[in-house]
Amino acid sequence: MQRKLDVTTDTQARLIPQREGLPAQLPTPFPHPVETAPRGLHVMTWGCQMNAYDSGRMVDILEPLGFREVAAPEQAELVVLNTCHIRERATEKVFSELGRLHGLKRAREAAGGRMTIALAGCVAQAEGEIIRARAPYVDIVFGPQTYHRLPAMLRRAAAGERVLETEFPPEDKFDFLPGEAAPRGPSGLTAFLSVQEGCDKFCTFCVVPYTRGAEFSRPAEAVLAEARGLVARGAQEITLLGQNVNAWHGAAPDGGTWTLGRLIRALAEIPRLARIRYTTSHPRDMEDSLILAHRDVPQLMPFLHLPVQSGSDRVLADMNRGHTREDYLRLIDRLRDARPDLALSTDIIVGFPGETDAAFEDTLDLLRRVGFAQSYSFAYSTRPGTAAAARADQVAAAVKDARLQVVQAELQAEATAFNTSCLGRTLDVLFVGPGRRPGQMSGRTPYLQPVHVPGAAALVGRIVPVTIEDARPNSLGGRLVDHPEPGGQEPDRA
Ligand code: 5AD
Ligand code: SF4
Repeated sequence: MQRKLDVTTDTQARLIPQREGLPAQLPTPFPHPVETAPRGLHVMTWGCQMNAYDSGRMVDILEPLGFREVAAPEQAELVVLNTCHIRERATEKVFSELGRLHGLKRAREAAGGRMTIALAGCVAQAEGEIIRARAPYVDIVFGPQTYHRLPAMLRRAAAGERVLETEFPPEDKFDFLPGEAAPRGPSGLTAFLSVQEGCDKFCTFCVVPYTRGAEFSRPAEAVLAEARGLVARGAQEITLLGQNVNAWHGAAPDGGTWTLGRLIRALAEIPRLARIRYTTSHPRDMEDSLILAHRDVPQLMPFLHLPVQSGSDRVLADMNRGHTREDYLRLIDRLRDARPDLALSTDIIVGFPGETDAAFEDTLDLLRRVGFAQSYSFAYSTRPGTAAAARADQVAAAVKDARLQVVQAELQAEATAFNTSCLGRTLDVLFVGPGRRPGQMSGRTPYLQPVHVPGAAALVGRIVPVTIEDARPNSLGGRLVDHPEPGGQEPDRA
């Protein structure tokens, strides 16, 4: 049965997806047999890094069936839209893309061909039934917890069935995904690794607990094995992913339970894994061992995305965030004590129901106090099924837009100030590919800033010190320490 997302009739408790009862037929574990010669696959991804990871894993599942990625839907036999439901605008984009694909599919069929359209991700999870009614040309609709069943779904679709798989299955999809994940960042040097999924916190604005389900942590050994595999395939940087990644508490190899701080220490023992990151964190789950990992583990990069959402105690309480502004500021102090050069990033929502001018000023004040190196800010968007959507004191759209502009100007100024503070410093840069201009290569600093540097292609895959000479709002420029002259060539190293 499809879970309904209607706060007026459903309580939150009933909305928490349960992993109950085993289905009659479990999906076949890997490997699936190769069926035919290359078949075009085009995956479009919206939303968070978790969706990017999931899209990559879908490709991993489909490759043994003969699918190969193609650049455009025009060349694809199968098009997958991996969607995001977090804000209304994200959802609207999906529907406009679906309309375009419908045109392509009709043209293909008129020419005697076939095109399968699969809608995946959080829009599919939340609005599967609606999509079935509104867009009957969509062949397969499946949520974030069922994509391991994709091969079987494709077979059913090929037999003429219109497939809908948005239940939260009792089996763990990770047990049915191929063991060999590929690093999918630029040049295969960086990779995402999903360690935790779902959320039980029920912030009153957020659809994630409904679309991704209850909180779930992968066992430590599974994470370590996937990390070793990624490193064996060339990854030097791994970003651990989870909607609440620092709530991770996985089964440990010794039979106990580890926290994220402990997991990071174990990951740091993998030879050639140079950089570890994690995202997205909740301030409530910043446990001591994780804070200390920032002090003790050199591979753990000094950059932390820690959404605060608001600087007003009243709004934080209404959002059900479970912490005050003071709690947040104190936490930042502790983190900076542990790692003085830690750079911070955050998410802000303006115009949450009931947000007054004074509450908004509190948010601006908190931003100035912390000084964020990076940020994402959003106007509050009412989401079906969430508690805040039902509130009568919604903020007018014009007020939300005006506050968003103010907040974005503040955050942009803070990001520019952070980049400017890097001028003259020497930062280790992991080079990942060509730069903006000919003769330049680009990479990332420990603080995740893109850097463009004169240099040769052989820099790719190396971590090299760079003196920062140029700071722009969203990137840096610099010069290899080994090559003080502009336009320097590849450093002469073994
Ligand atoms: N409206 C606006 N922003 C939202 N976010 C989540 N839900 C909403 C919403 N209903 C933002 C939060 C979260 C980020 C991923 O998206 O800031 O941290
Ligand atoms: Fe959404 Fe809050 Fe859970 Fe983050 S912690 S996923 S914002 S409900």
